[in-house]
Amino acid sequence: MKILVTGGAGFIGSEFVRQGVRKGYAITVLDKLSYAGDKERLREVDRDIMFSEADIGDRRSVEEIFRQTRPDAVVHWAAESHVDRSIQDASPFIEANVRGTQVLLDVCRISQVEKFINVSTDEVYGDLGEEGQFLESTPLNPSSPYSVSKASADMLGRAYHRTYGIPVITVRPSNNYGPWQYPEKLIPVVVMKAVNNERVPVYARGENVREWLHVSDCASAVFGVLEKGQAGEVYNIGSGQEKKNIEVVKTILRILGKQEGLIEFVEDRPGHDFRYSLNSNRIRTELGWATRVPFEQGIEHTVGWYLENMEWTRSKLKSR
Ligand SMILES: NC(=O)c1ccc[n+]([C@@H]2O[C@H](COP(=O)([O-])OP(=O)(O)OC[C@H]3O[C@@H](n4cnc5c(N)ncnc54)[C@H](O)[C@@H]3O)[C@@H](O)[C@H]2O)c1
Repeated sequence: MKILVTGGAGFIGSEFVRQGVRKGYAITVLDKLSYAGDKERLREVDRDIMFSEADIGDRRSVEEIFRQTRPDAVVHWAAESHVDRSIQDASPFIEANVRGTQVLLDVCRISQVEKFINVSTDEVYGDLGEEGQFLESTPLNPSSPYSVSKASADMLGRAYHRTYGIPVITVRPSNNYGPWQYPEKLIPVVVMKAVNNERVPVYARGENVREWLHVSDCASAVFGVLEKGQAGEVYNIGSGQEKKNIEVVKTILRILGKQEGLIEFVEDRPGHDFRYSLNSNRIRTELGWATRVPFEQGIEHTVGWYLENMEWTRSKLKSR
């Protein structure tokens, strides 16, 4: 099967590409190499894939890539992905996440793909209190400019399935962590600050809860959906491993042998969602997917990876 992977030079997309090469898929990556994209993440599979540097919003380029590669399936990861940046300026998020998704879907109307995996997020549901879970049927109620742009892309994909019969499948993963994450997100930020004995900023009191999913489990779930998922369906992808941010931060400090005194509580993110929690029974029972990486093992390995790859992480911080 030939797959076009958008955003394949990003954090999760590159893990998906590495797994896809091992599984024998013929992969073309379409990525504009934004500040968050880096071909270095694809170093180990460089010779096994095709790479097209292009913007998903540029219809001409996208059509040309489809004409040249004739993909059987599209797996659409490309997005502006950082909530804090969307609060500073929503425009790039609407442009990439909404209009970019529309362009890809429009090109699929004339290109006959067998599957289009539209990667959404658990953030499209809005937030929860201490109790409860989101089902795939829960109405979307996004809070941030980022999650609104993702909810729009999510709904566009489902509308194109219903209206034009494009075989779109929507996936909504929870919070990913693992190697190669751009160092503006919580885990690499904490590692880098703590290693340098700098203050580790934590929003409010760190009580917000996220469901932590190892990036390799997220990618394997999306392969399950690609291989066995039903067109028009939505699949939540959650690990069931809920942690407060403060617990995650303290775990990292413990692994690094650093004092909790480094923690500095800072003013909360405006509109900060309190808790996300997915009911992922559908993907588990219908597609037989299961997580492989327990959080305690995954976080230990992830912290070790950042320690071994300080140079890459520092170079990203410098170029911000
Ligand atoms: N990271 C998470 O915890 C998480 C959780 C749920 C869903 N998601 C979704 O998964 C996807 C991947 O997330 P990530 O954390 O790997 O993001 P990332 O920011 O690390 O990577 C995004 C990639 O998309 C590329 N890109 C951005 N705009 C583009 C455009 N206009 N044209 C072509 N390429 C473009 C970037 O260059 C980069 O390589 C996103 O759709 C995100 O919304 C992420």
